[in-house]
Amino acid sequence: MARVYKPGALSADEIFATGLRDQWHAVCPSSWVERGAIRKLKRLGEDWVLYRQSDGTVRMLADRCPHRGAPLSHGMHLGDRIACKYHGVQVDGEGTVLSVPGMPGCNLEGKKLVRALPVQEVGGAILAWFGLDTETEPTPLVVPDPLADEGVSEFLCYTEWKAPWRFAVENLLDPMHGAFLHHESHSMFGGEQSARFRIRETDRGFFFEKTNQRGVNFDWVEFSRSGVDWVDLEIPYPATAGPGGPFGIVGMATPIDEGTTSIFFWRYRRVVGWERDVWRFLYRTTLEERHWAVLQQDRAMLEGMAPDADQAENLYQHDLGVIRLRRMYRAQAEEQAKALAEA
Ligand code: FES
Ligand SMILES: [Fe+2]
Repeated sequence: MARVYKPGALSADEIFATGLRDQWHAVCPSSWVERGAIRKLKRLGEDWVLYRQSDGTVRMLADRCPHRGAPLSHGMHLGDRIACKYHGVQVDGEGTVLSVPGMPGCNLEGKKLVRALPVQEVGGAILAWFGLDTETEPTPLVVPDPLADEGVSEFLCYTEWKAPWRFAVENLLDPMHGAFLHHESHSMFGGEQSARFRIRETDRGFFFEKTNQRGVNFDWVEFSRSGVDWVDLEIPYPATAGPGGPFGIVGMATPIDEGTTSIFFWRYRRVVGWERDVWRFLYRTTLEERHWAVLQQDRAMLEGMAPDADQAENLYQHDLGVIRLRRMYRAQAEEQAKALAEA
């Protein structure tokens, strides 16, 4: 009988460490997968191969040939399919074997034997649906509203951190670090260094916000689940940063493996017409470099934390957002592990 590779049952700890399933995750910038090229990537602890068909459609397959498990990413791009380098077996973007050149008529032909993930391109990035099992239908992906808004002009910034993905997400749910870690930055020097926070529920997630200050520093963040998990936040800009008001960030963090994370930040402002041109010019000439410097502060902090830094903490009121997030992810990891064990 023909076999399709899939990873074995994962424990709740393994799911929590390598990323929640049954949701969309950002995978890489669209520009990483050029026409005619093949790209190998690890995401959620597994190896994948991405390629773009000649019509521009992106495909994402498990990086294992259905014949003897060789990496398809070593293979050849044949327009709409990949040919494995080892013995030439050809697989299409749905994971179906189209041809076994070494043995024409072989019974592998016509069978779907490689896991293929549904993909979509959003805001210059490739997102994929990581189902708990291969049969689960993807949930609809609602694009984060700033990225769907024509009045917004954004730049996608991508980086990778040697830190667990949960540290990266928790960092975003922790506005208070703006007034300390980024105190010397161009945009987060102002405001109080003490605050009270509250959680405000929404129909797609929640706000975690200061009760005593808004529009001065990193004062609020919104966490949303819309098929993909993302945050939206705002940092005020001084007048010297040109038109467009505050600087917005839509953020996503995708596990590469349990100790490494891909970070996606869409840096945006609400600008159209000439203001849009000014924003894009200022960003490229001065602001981008400053923002990377701020991001380096986050990176240094998170990469410096021990992998088990969250095993002996003493949390206080400012950590309510982090606690809320952990409970939600932990419960979901338990549920998913149970579903896998019962399957
Ligand atoms: S392992 Fe790929 S064709 Fe044999
Ligand atoms: Fe930060």
